[in-house]
Amino acid sequence: MNILVTGGAGYIGSHTVLSLLNNDFDVIVFDNLSNSSIESIRRVEKLTDKKVTFVKGDIQDKAALAELFCAHNIDAVIHFAALKAVGESSTMPLAYYQNNVNGSLCLLEVMATFKVKHFIFSSSATVYGGDNNVPYIETMPLGEASSPYGASKVMVERMLNDVAKADSDFRAISLRYFNPIGAHESGQIGEAPQGVPNNLLPYIAQVAVGKRKSLQVFGDDYQTLDGTCERDYLHVMDLAEGHVAALKWLNKQRGFTGVEAFNLGTGKALSVLSIIRAFEQVSQQNIRYEIGARRSGDLAAFWANADKANRLLGWQATRSLEQMIEDTWRWQVNNPEGYL
Ligand code: NAD
Ligand code: UD1
Repeated sequence: MNILVTGGAGYIGSHTVLSLLNNDFDVIVFDNLSNSSIESIRRVEKLTDKKVTFVKGDIQDKAALAELFCAHNIDAVIHFAALKAVGESSTMPLAYYQNNVNGSLCLLEVMATFKVKHFIFSSSATVYGGDNNVPYIETMPLGEASSPYGASKVMVERMLNDVAKADSDFRAISLRYFNPIGAHESGQIGEAPQGVPNNLLPYIAQVAVGKRKSLQVFGDDYQTLDGTCERDYLHVMDLAEGHVAALKWLNKQRGFTGVEAFNLGTGKALSVLSIIRAFEQVSQQNIRYEIGARRSGDLAAFWANADKANRLLGWQATRSLEQMIEDTWRWQVNNPEGYL
């Protein structure tokens, strides 16, 4: 089967491409490399000893997409391509709606033209908003997104539901990721943020390796055990395998039409301070940190109820926190400048 992976050179995309190749899918990556490097794909090819077809392009370029669909007989699309910096999305909302919403629209239009009906979407736990109780479960209503980034995910999920209502052959899955961290165990591919990292783990890793002085912990006055925010961290390879499980399920379901959402998380929440401690233990480095103000838009604690993915997809996160941190650390030490 030929799988088109948009944004496949990025962090989660590159790990998923590796899992797809290891499961004998043929992969075409379409990426504008705005937040990634072609080197990730080269390394995936080396690790798997398999070839990836790479096309550089933007999902808003419908002519380029049409050319791609013409040249390859695509069976399904996994759609990662998006801008993902939550804070930045509040300062440049139109860029996020343009890239994430309009980009998805262009992709879905070209898929409709070429009658490609299977779609897997990178959604986020952020779609549940702040008003739902934890753990989040797929039957909950989507909430008020706290950022334009989050709103773009809610909008695309809505778009998929509407497309499915209009076309009974269209079958889609929204995978709602919790907090992916870690790297492939080889230390060859991982998360390579450009500039100052927005997310916790890459920031801690850069402090540990001496690239940054100290971490700002965003608030210690939350209603949690140690006062810092709690999140459901999962290994990026577990997440990658979740995509393969979703794709296999999509291919297998005869009666299913419409859109199914699945939470991908471990079902456990850990605090910022406990992550710092675990990182110190694994890396044997001292992580300097200061307690700072709360970050706008942060919620105290959320984690997944991932029973549905377990029940229907046969998927479960299996890698431990220790493994997540060991793999992050190996990647960071081997590649202090990312893919440069
Ligand atoms: P990433 O930035 O590493 O990967 C995104 C990839 O998409 C990059 O390679 C980038 O160059 C590409 N891209 C962006 N806009 C494009 C466009 N218009 N045309 C073609 N390519 C484009 O991010 P990631 O962490 O791998 O995230 C992948 C997906 O998962 C995103 O949709 C993101 O919103 C979603 N997600 C990520 C997280 C997370 O914590 N990393 C959590 C929830 C959801
Ligand atoms: C955020 C987004 C989520 C998005 C994900 C990946 C929100 C509410 N959620 O998740 O939609 O999919 O990023 O882009 O915006 N922290 C620090 N110091 C730092 C960085 C983070 O203390 O320098 C804390 C945060 O307050 C948070 C935890 O670490 O409690 C994890 O933060 P982060 O990695 O940014 O992920 P989320 O905010 O959970």
